[in-house]
Amino acid sequence: MDENQKFIRSRYPSASGYLDDLKRLHDLYRSSPIPSEELIDQFALYATPPSLRRFIHFDRLYQKLLNLPGVIMVFGVRWGRDLSILHGLQQIHEPMNHTRRMLGFDTFTGFPSVSSLDGNTSVTQAGAYGVTEAYEEHLAEVLRVKMRLGSYAHLERFELLKGDAAERLTQYLETHPETVVAFAYFDLDLYEPTRACAEILIPYLTSGAVIAFDEFIHPVFPGETVAARQVFGNNARFRRVPGVGPGHSSYLIFDGHQHD
Ligand SMILES: C[S@@+](CC[C@H](N)C(=O)[O-])C[C@H]1O[C@@H](n2cnc3c(N)ncnc32)[C@H](O)[C@@H]1O
Repeated sequence: MDENQKFIRSRYPSASGYLDDLKRLHDLYRSSPIPSEELIDQFALYATPPSLRRFIHFDRLYQKLLNLPGVIMVFGVRWGRDLSILHGLQQIHEPMNHTRRMLGFDTFTGFPSVSSLDGNTSVTQAGAYGVTEAYEEHLAEVLRVKMRLGSYAHLERFELLKGDAAERLTQYLETHPETVVAFAYFDLDLYEPTRACAEILIPYLTSGAVIAFDEFIHPVFPGETVAARQVFGNNARFRRVPGVGPGHSSYLIFDGHQHD
């Protein structure tokens, strides 16, 4: 595999010139004349509409779990963007709810393998979506600082579980039988780990839990949809977040049943 490929993000579809303009924005950000101590609070200046939209998308989902007990699990962490958004939303909506812990599952070395149900494109290859060496240590430190800036700073809100997601989830549940899951966000992109983790989770989902799939009906990552359908059934009420949902994304409210 090409060394750069592990950092690839799927751009689908991208108009000609789009990537050039993204790069230009990136360069402007890196060479910003804004003083560094102010830059962190000016991120919206350089954020693209899709990344701002992602905040709103997660906010709409978060509103659905405010009255539910349980933790948040993010399957597929990569650089930590979604975990970080969720932490921000927790600080906004329920800063006093110290039981709303966030668990992030990732190999932090990219896709461990792909199956025949995952298609065969440049982004569905073993090793794709990797991160830099020991990135999880950087991410853990970023999250620690964010916790200190937030409420109940002495309580651990995050846990990063490195390794195969299904294995780490099984281990976690063995040592935390009190687990109730209010929100599971699936962004593993692939059939096997999505199916395995979703099946393991079923007994731990509270009725009303929000289960979301980042690559739902995504033709480049067909395996995630196949897994969602197999575990939750064809008759599950998959829904989009109106307007702001990323093009390929859907969620369901778990009603305590798997539908045939
Ligand atoms: C699209 S990225 C996730 C992006 C992330 N949600 C964000 O906030 O930007 C997909 C991630 O799934 C992870 N992944 C795929 N299969 C996995 C598995 N079996 N176990 C753990 N992580 C896996 C990859 O390492 C990759 O980081």
